[in-house]
Amino acid sequence: MISQKMQDAINEQINAEMFSAYLYLSMSAYFESISLPGFAHWMQLQTQEEMTHAMKLYGFLNERMGRVTLKAIAAPQTDWKDALDVFEAALAHEQKVTGLINNLMNLADDEKDHASKGFLQWFVDEQVEEEASTDAIVQKLKMVKDVPGGVFMLDKEMAQRVASVPTEEK
Ligand SMILES: [Fe+2]
Ligand SMILES: [Fe+2]
Repeated sequence: MISQKMQDAINEQINAEMFSAYLYLSMSAYFESISLPGFAHWMQLQTQEEMTHAMKLYGFLNERMGRVTLKAIAAPQTDWKDALDVFEAALAHEQKVTGLINNLMNLADDEKDHASKGFLQWFVDEQVEEEASTDAIVQKLKMVKDVPGGVFMLDKEMAQRVASVPTEEK
């Protein structure tokens, strides 16, 4: 059985992951609107990943005999200046999420909830990856900023992203 505090916090995180999915889908739609299908594809896969994060938390809470309660998902931003602006916003968002995961881990510590700590460690590691992969794209976009056609070249690279195969614990 999971504590009420931990349950409430995990329900909040389910909402945060769903919002992440919604935000990235909105970014995908923006890329479609400015004819960058590779970037749109990348963001769509990112949306799917965020949904798996939400479902992972959903499954864990049920497994711990907790009660999942879904809340309204806030409307995401719909417009950005350009591709760099989008990825800088995505990086800032991932940094915010890392803070949320750290807070969850701190709570699990306070509650002496070892099962939650073990479970949350996956998210701690995942955030390192999420920040690094988003930052790598920010850096590339900065590099091609003044190169004519640079963003279109990058768009082809972004189109190559494949869905990650879920591991057993996912
Ligand atoms: Fe996530
Ligand atoms: Fe993420």
